[in-house]
Amino acid sequence: MSLLGIYARVLGELGPERRLGLLLAIANIALAGAAFAEPMLFGALIDRLTSLQTAGTRPGWSDINVLLAAWVGFGLFNIAAGVFVALFADRLAHRRRLAVMANYFEHALTLPLAYHTQTHSGRVLKVMLEGTSGMWALWLSFFREHCASFVALFILLPFTLWKNWQLGLVLIFLVVLFGTLTAFVLRKTDKLQSNVEAYHSSLAERASDALGNVPVIQSFTRIEAEVRGLRNTITSLLEAQIPVLTWWAVATVATRASATLTVLSIFVVGTWLLMQGLTTVGEIVTFMGFATMLVGRLEQIVSFVNFIFMQAPKMREFFEVLDTLPAVRDQPGASDAGRLVGAIAFDDVSFSYDGKRAAVADVSFEVRPGETIAIVGSTGSGKSTTLGLLHRAFDPQSGRILADGRDIREISLLSLRRNIGVVFQEPMLFARSIRENLTVGKPDATDAEMMEALDRAQATEVMARQSDGLDTIVG
Ligand SMILES: Nc1ncnc2c1ncn2[C@@H]1O[C@H](COP(=O)(O)OP(=O)(O)OP(=O)(O)O)[C@@H](O)[C@H]1O
Ligand SMILES: [Mg+2]
Repeated sequence: MSLLGIYARVLGELGPERRLGLLLAIANIALAGAAFAEPMLFGALIDRLTSLQTAGTRPGWSDINVLLAAWVGFGLFNIAAGVFVALFADRLAHRRRLAVMANYFEHALTLPLAYHTQTHSGRVLKVMLEGTSGMWALWLSFFREHCASFVALFILLPFTLWKNWQLGLVLIFLVVLFGTLTAFVLRKTDKLQSNVEAYHSSLAERASDALGNVPVIQSFTRIEAEVRGLRNTITSLLEAQIPVLTWWAVATVATRASATLTVLSIFVVGTWLLMQGLTTVGEIVTFMGFATMLVGRLEQIVSFVNFIFMQAPKMREFFEVLDTLPAVRDQPGASDAGRLVGAIAFDDVSFSYDGKRAAVADVSFEVRPGETIAIVGSTGSGKSTTLGLLHRAFDPQSGRILADGRDIREISLLSLRRNIGVVFQEPMLFARSIRENLTVGKPDATDAEMMEALDRAQATEVMARQSDGLDTIVG
């Protein structure tokens, strides 16, 4: 996804708030227009005063009061539109950030187990937090400043040609020059920054992996090795980051220097034009105002481009996750199976995780309702995979699985899984109360049923020691 593509996609994520976004953009356009009006009014005032002076008349308030009133009017409008933009841009950005985060969370939970075993949870979480905060900052800065800056540069800049084409050309030339410089730096560093982001992701992965396995690390005295591993990643990350920073420092300094250069050029060319009788003092003043403003805008745009450029890989990762389709989905027309009797048949089922090595090959067996069976085999022989296929953690590449005579792919996922209880090989607990952990299996379980379940798991004694009973937090 290109930078522009990402930018458009992020703005597209405004979703139901697009109308407010549009209103803010319009307010920004008005603000950009008003910003141009001020130097024009100032220049017109100077011209009025100087022409009165050269005509030998003493200027009075009545000569300039219309221009002054217009100036005050634009000032007031600036304040009102500015308040509107600042207030609503903030709210919009906060609301959308949390809404997008909720969508991502839901989407990540529906992604297949195969995805989650390949992608570390630390990475999925990092991508969620960084992606959404990047988007938040982008929305905020777009609606607060950058929309107006783009309008100023791309629409109003050509308008200066109409005011005075010679001075307008000087301005356009300088803006194009610095724009090209920025684009050059951008090209140079695009790939480099993607590498940096890859290091950031593996940093998150490593750290959360280690923090999730503290008991193993401590009992095997691996602390030193883990820290060393993390430090190595940090060193590589910094090595990749520093050239990018240098290029951007060059771009920032060049843009600063351009402020002086632009104002000076306008003054020199303006004075020369004045000597030729091709302009007025007021026009020079107006263009000095334009120049200062445009350089300010250009600086903002450069820092904004720098910002989205740094954030782009994060958002790219975010959209990649969002665009990953769950492999296991309801087929069109999948129906609710209701309560299944429990006749299960595997019919020549094969499945491979990587498409190369079979995890389960040509498995066929039948289980009658009420029957208890055990699948026995050495480690890695495919027992867990077989059961995963039954509740559709993944679908077989060939063969089919029947429940009560129906292919399980024709049954809605929700109703299939409602009919199946899974006890995992490794215990997994949510860091929530015992009650909440037990209701994962049966949402409407009564306290008595929970106590019975605990009794069967021989956990009554442990329970008796908890002061908060079922509300004790575990995990
Ligand atoms: N998420 C995964 N991604 C890729 N390969 C996997 C994945 N899970 C299991 N495998 C591979 O599939 C094969 C079957 O694994 P499975 O976990 O089903 O075996 P198992 O019989 O349950 O083993 P164990 O007795 O150790 O629990 C193994 O070769 C294993 O390496
Ligand atoms: Mg297993």
